[in-house]
Amino acid sequence: MAILEILVAPDPRLKTRAMPVAVVDDRIRRLLDDMLETMYAAPGIGLAAPQVGEALRVVVVDIAQKNGVRAPLRMVNPEIIWASEDRVPYEEGCLSLPEHYADVTRPRQVRVRYLDETGATHELEAEGLLAVCVQHELDHLEGTLFVDHVSALRRGMILKKLQKLKKSQAAERADRQTG
Ligand code: NI
Repeated sequence: MAILEILVAPDPRLKTRAMPVAVVDDRIRRLLDDMLETMYAAPGIGLAAPQVGEALRVVVVDIAQKNGVRAPLRMVNPEIIWASEDRVPYEEGCLSLPEHYADVTRPRQVRVRYLDETGATHELEAEGLLAVCVQHELDHLEGTLFVDHVSALRRGMILKKLQKLKKSQAAERADRQTG
């Protein structure tokens, strides 16, 4: 397993619609494992393949790790097949938008269909934090970030700050290389 680099917004690769996986093979299983290791190391509770530069419909989620017990969900080609009309706000964060948080309102419950790492089909009914997390990760597969759900003003402020942060980090790296 390997820890992958997590892309930080703004980045065009985070704004691209991901492609369905044709076959769940060893390459996909390795990607799933690498994404889980990357997510646990971050640490985060969800990660989508576009965040590590892979434009594939692959997602990992684990909302149980706080108790020290891991319960990873490996999802290939996930799709929401039902969503409740009832919607609730939740303060979301994202590994691709570090240090920024905003309230996003989404359906309280969803039913998701996906393939596991063996290619078997599953359906999952999610509510609470799991519902938030699954919807947030599936958004990534459409090139949508949580900031796309908030006002343009707020989004602009967050992306500008991140752009600045990336520039200063790049400058620091250049300094280290020449110094
Ligand atoms: Ni995210």
